[in-house]
Amino acid sequence: EKAGHKHFMAKEIAEQPIVLADALQAYSTPDGKGIELPNGTLDFTKCDRITMVACGTANLACQVAKYWFEQLAGLPVDVDIASEFRYRKPVISDKSYALFVSQSGETADTLAALRYAKDRAAMILSVVNVPESSIARESDLALPIMAGIEVGVASTKAFTCQLLALAALALQAGHQRGHLDDAAMAAHMADLNLLPGVLNQSLAQEKAIKRVAHKISTAQDVLFLGRGAMYPLALEGALKLKEISYIHAEGYASGELKHGPIALIDKSVPVVVLAPTDDLFDKTVSNMQEVMARGGKVVLISDAKGVREAGDGVWETVVMPQISPFLAPILYAVPAQLLAYHTAVAKGTDVDQPRNLAKSVTVE
Ligand code: F6R
Repeated sequence: EKAGHKHFMAKEIAEQPIVLADALQAYSTPDGKGIELPNGTLDFTKCDRITMVACGTANLACQVAKYWFEQLAGLPVDVDIASEFRYRKPVISDKSYALFVSQSGETADTLAALRYAKDRAAMILSVVNVPESSIARESDLALPIMAGIEVGVASTKAFTCQLLALAALALQAGHQRGHLDDAAMAAHMADLNLLPGVLNQSLAQEKAIKRVAHKISTAQDVLFLGRGAMYPLALEGALKLKEISYIHAEGYASGELKHGPIALIDKSVPVVVLAPTDDLFDKTVSNMQEVMARGGKVVLISDAKGVREAGDGVWETVVMPQISPFLAPILYAVPAQLLAYHTAVAKGTDVDQPRNLAKSVTVE
């Protein structure tokens, strides 16, 4: 049932081009030029804010989506951790949509947060992988992510499919609210339609990532850096690595480095920099140079242009295919997952069943 792979996690990483293509079809109009939700309709002109709540990796998908909703639709977004949200007495206006993201649809804190929002928000939305789950049943509209069953405890394909569904919602919101005209929408849809193929190409970098993974498998600590929507990806790379390889890892916004974490840098700390070429690339490169100037070992994950422009001195590079900046967070999930996977395999840990973790956290 692992389809020739050593672990479910490897199978689920490799499946991503296929499940994303299916999900994309489900969220597209028949001509592929617009967004149409698979099981209902939403009117984003009726809300003035979105409150997103989730745990773990699903929360990091929400953090990426915040950048998208702000940039593409001009909609303010709050992102919360469910265990904080449920006890904080958050203020929710009756013009806001509350959106809950959960692979299992059974996470206790996320479900409790949903129930708190129920009579307060204008609409309860969820993005779930299990359509018959509690979170799906208690929502006004439950959007499926179509990732198929995810067995590995560390979430991989569910994360990229959550991102795809959230990207579709952000595009639809942008179009409905007049932030994206038809031409801009068509351009984004064309990019989205390239995504499964580009993801497939990124899987071809597995050998390079394996080489890096062997080198970092002896590290005590690893840092991940990213800017903009790549910042939540840095958090996801660090979460995945600590979860399955048990190496201490932290993700930081590149610009925060000099406000503290740079004190950790020395030659024993690999620093993984997630830096597709985008508007913020030069700023990320200058943060990277600050790391190298202090003896830090940089693993640069970028496209060919980025690797060229970053110049000499990096410890390792992984060359990703070119992608529109909007979709880079979906693509760069793949090297983050593969890096964690191969590091864990190199260390011999139990990849699919990491210690102390459960696939579905139904108690708080
Ligand atoms: C990390 C991971 C967890 C889950 C979290 C939420 O790889 O799998 O952080 O993302 O427990 O679970 P769901 O999405 O089922 O609510």
